[in-house]
Amino acid sequence: MLTVLHALQGQLLAAMQRAFQEAGQPLDPQLAPASKPEFGDFQANGALPLAKPLGQPPRAIATAIVKQLTADPAFAELCLEPQIAGPGFINLTLRPERLAAELQARLGDPRLGVPTVEMQAPVIVDFSSPNIAKEMHVGHLRSTIIGDALARVLEFRGHPVLRLNHVGDWGTQFGMLITHLKQVAPEALTMADAVDLGDLVAFYRQAKARFDDDESFQTTSREEVVKLQGGDPVSLKAWGLLCDQSRREFQKIYDQLGIRLTERGESFYNPHLQAVVDDLRAVGLLVVDAGAGCVFLEGVSGKDGQPLPLIVQKSDGGFNYATTDLAAIRYRFAPGPGGDGASRVIYVTDAGQASHFAGVFQVAQRAGWIPSPCGVEHVPFGLVQGDDGKKLKTRSGDTVRLKDLLDEAVERTEADLRQRLADEQRSEDEAFIQQVATSVGLAAVKYADLSTNRITNYQFSFDRMLALTGNTAPYLLYAVVRIAGIARKGGDLGAGAVASLTFSEAQEWALVRELLKFDGVIAEVEQELLPNRLCNYLFELSQVFNRFYDQVPVLKAEEPARSSRLALCRLTTDTLSLGLGLLGIPTLERM
Ligand code: ARG
Repeated sequence: MLTVLHALQGQLLAAMQRAFQEAGQPLDPQLAPASKPEFGDFQANGALPLAKPLGQPPRAIATAIVKQLTADPAFAELCLEPQIAGPGFINLTLRPERLAAELQARLGDPRLGVPTVEMQAPVIVDFSSPNIAKEMHVGHLRSTIIGDALARVLEFRGHPVLRLNHVGDWGTQFGMLITHLKQVAPEALTMADAVDLGDLVAFYRQAKARFDDDESFQTTSREEVVKLQGGDPVSLKAWGLLCDQSRREFQKIYDQLGIRLTERGESFYNPHLQAVVDDLRAVGLLVVDAGAGCVFLEGVSGKDGQPLPLIVQKSDGGFNYATTDLAAIRYRFAPGPGGDGASRVIYVTDAGQASHFAGVFQVAQRAGWIPSPCGVEHVPFGLVQGDDGKKLKTRSGDTVRLKDLLDEAVERTEADLRQRLADEQRSEDEAFIQQVATSVGLAAVKYADLSTNRITNYQFSFDRMLALTGNTAPYLLYAVVRIAGIARKGGDLGAGAVASLTFSEAQEWALVRELLKFDGVIAEVEQELLPNRLCNYLFELSQVFNRFYDQVPVLKAEEPARSSRLALCRLTTDTLSLGLGLLGIPTLERM
């Protein structure tokens, strides 16, 4: 439909120019999708702002535009006679045969009308990015799910996407971790093979407790940081063991969720940190304030009204999170080799890091590290809350482990499924039950996250996300299952064009119109990086489909209606599958 929208936009503008050539006014058709189905497909409100400057009633202006518009043969082919409504809105309705032709074109198109871009420069999506030896928490889960969906949409549009896991694998905390490791598991440091260090989160807690209580442990830990930074082989080995252990844990979650990521942690940028500070000094941005190297931010001031600094080198000479992110930006935009040559870098983190990124982006911009027309964007998201509106916790008050959370989603789905099978007196084998429970449970977790506007906080509720009704993964997956059932009952959903599509029922036209919105929705998601737009669309589509299928006979209809209706079923399932796939959610034939 986007191509139709663009064509209409051009025709309207040309008509306005012909009618009001001498207006000396900026002419804008103000074309938008109709707000209600009874207004047709599109609405053009461009007559209204011309009323004052032209000194004419807006309805007269609309009439003049319509007169020019209908004289255009290309327009007449596309739309029925326009209607003028209210003070001077022009309502446009596409010709049914045009809608059918658009639909026909989609039936043979695996991309369902979504064009591909011809871009060579990669888009980087920096997402997930948990910290070594620390818990991968629900915030990282959100980043993982949202980042993966955005990467999928960009990849589908044809962008080369670099999915980067900016893991926190460097920093002073490794001093205490390595010291602790050397003392509790010295044998690990001499073994050639991978070793299992057990639960790293508990390990971290023990190391931290010792660091807080024991002065000599503290001193050794500080010396250990220096050794590590100096490249001491034993320290590096210990660091590597800790990273490997975490990596294996993270990978389990990624495997479970079907997430592909390239790890490029903070440590990767170590060799570039000094150069970042040197370059900032060279371009005159660096100010030494109380011994620390910083850049004062423009347009940002603290509570006292003083300009806020972005610290890039601590007074002890060490670098920090911001220095690493600056080095990362510089590397990502620099042409290769020695850079990624990216065109766009997207960071998916919690909203709490917004000011960090604003500062880093500003400094990188002023230092000239973001070549135009490239861009950086922070894609923030809100907190995950429990049912009570507070930070998500287990019943005993601990932070929720991701593995437990995903397992519980699957277990609950399994229980619901067994109940449903019993109610329906259906019997299925164990393999089926396990597969459906896993697939639907994980889909529910992903979808619940993606379907809320990411900026707002989001209340995690198993009951809500697993419900078979409402804007949930099970509801959408069930629509796909329903259509697969039509095929099993003898409806030919085979690929390829249908000789002639004929529709007569309002429910059919509603579904046709809904199906044709897909490409526009994808364009919107790509632009605004809001996966919930796609979710809302898929939910709406499922509802329109269910209304159609409940009210219009398909398998029992006579030809040619039967084939046309089956074509609608097929395009619906294709659109749902493609759309859910872009959200990282695979569909099922039965559930
Ligand atoms: N490791 C960080 C955290 O857990 C997220 C890193 C995000 N990416 C970045 N380039 N700063 O909060």
